[in-house]
Amino acid sequence: MNEHNHDDLDFMMAYQDSCDIPALQLIHGFPLNGSMWLEQMEDLGNFARVIAPDLRGFGQSEAVAGPYSMALLADDCADLLGHLSVLTPFVIGGHSMGGYVAFEFYRNYKDHIGGLILTATRAAPDTAVGKENRDKMIDLVRRRGVTAVIQPMLDVLFAPQTYEADPELVDFVRDLMETASPEGVIGALQAMRDRPDSRPTLPEIDVPVLIIHGADDQIVPVSEAEEMAAAISDCKLVILEDAGHMPNLEQPDAFNDAVIDFLEELDLENHGF
Ligand code: MLT
Repeated sequence: MNEHNHDDLDFMMAYQDSCDIPALQLIHGFPLNGSMWLEQMEDLGNFARVIAPDLRGFGQSEAVAGPYSMALLADDCADLLGHLSVLTPFVIGGHSMGGYVAFEFYRNYKDHIGGLILTATRAAPDTAVGKENRDKMIDLVRRRGVTAVIQPMLDVLFAPQTYEADPELVDFVRDLMETASPEGVIGALQAMRDRPDSRPTLPEIDVPVLIIHGADDQIVPVSEAEEMAAAISDCKLVILEDAGHMPNLEQPDAFNDAVIDFLEELDLENHGF
């Protein structure tokens, strides 16, 4: 039960509100956009107020020129929660690059966060070779446009069996990627190249964490999810069979069940924005 003392009221009014559920901000991966969470928007609405932004330069958001950084992207997400007057406790979820943003969000706004959901992501920074590859991709996008990075990414995005089992899903994700702007793709590649090492953050996380990872992820090996889980004090690791780097779309029911269980067990009373 809520209590409200407003200037216009000369008494304390108690009330119930059907929106009195946690907010869940879901941050997309690269080079996707908030529509990658459509299965979650459809099915999690009774359990959370689901907010899925398009990061700057992606989807329907403006194609702002770089430089981008994880801190900037985390600030954008925090500003959005403020703009939406998210006063209820909230959970931050991130997919892959969105997980890098979620780590930064946690470091910068930890007092407001009630829980973290990390999907198909990693805590380690780019290796030297990884950074060189980001620079090569940036050069490629400058010369040939966004499409140059889409097919190589699509080739490893799903579990090998998903390509035959669900070609419509592959097409849907290709369409999502094609809405990314060159500014967004280049800015995000720079931000990922220069992102901080989040491994030292793991033992400091003092809210419950859910890690969801596809057993057949060809981009981030399962071992990295296992290592993250082992370093976090309150963490549940869910590995989904027949899923690659997009477990929320390849196995939406199992993914959503894991999120619902996690949300139901959270005690969010003392958090909020
Ligand atoms: C993503 O899915 O967001 C990217 O694969 C992350 C990355 O390139 O590090």
